[in-house]
Amino acid sequence: MTSGPTHEPIDPVRYIANRSSGKQGHAIAAALAKLGADVTLVAGPCGQPDPTGVKTIHVESAREMLEACQAALPLDIGVFAAAVADWRVDQAGTQKMKKNGDVPPSLALVENPDILKTISRHATARPALVVGFAAETENVLDYARAKLARKGCDWIVANDVSPATGIMGGDRNTVHLISATAHEDWPELSKLDVAARLAARIADHFKT
Ligand code: CTP
Repeated sequence: MTSGPTHEPIDPVRYIANRSSGKQGHAIAAALAKLGADVTLVAGPCGQPDPTGVKTIHVESAREMLEACQAALPLDIGVFAAAVADWRVDQAGTQKMKKNGDVPPSLALVENPDILKTISRHATARPALVVGFAAETENVLDYARAKLARKGCDWIVANDVSPATGIMGGDRNTVHLISATAHEDWPELSKLDVAARLAARIADHFKT
């Protein structure tokens, strides 16, 4: 697992991560900034350019991402679109792991912090609106509703990331916007249009 300045070791040769293009999260940050919001984007390694007009903080691990999100509080709105790795290797080595013999090594894993849940359940500085994402490959609506309840967020943007959908890494997305009491099925849109529509919904929410 990758690690950063406050967690040793850094720059591992071999690591465990979740794949993410970062396209949807970056588009949402840019769309909110375009509507006039003061936006801080905490971005993992994804190769997307920093959006214009957005303060971007680069991190490499889930623990760094949590620290950066906590440091950004207080906030009015938190949107959590990152594909955070659920696990990291316990006791990452300081040297490259060599192949010794024919038997693959067993790796002990430990759970990464749940950033969305931590911020959603923040005792003193919870953002007024917390929006999570749910990446599912089956039972999309049911699993996403369960995630909303488990993590304590207000809305969940759920999508089917099965390989056949082409959503992972692609430019288009088909999402459902879910709250505790309702859900909307959005048509297939570009990730830029999903971002613009979500940003507009967020702005409307604060008008009411
Ligand atoms: N998330 C997070 N921290 C984690 C894992 C997930 O903040 N350690 C956030 C994601 O950014 C997203 C939401 O939680 O907003 C749901 O992420 P997802 O990958 O769909 O689900 P998981 O929580 O990983 O649950 P599962 O693997 O059981 O589907």
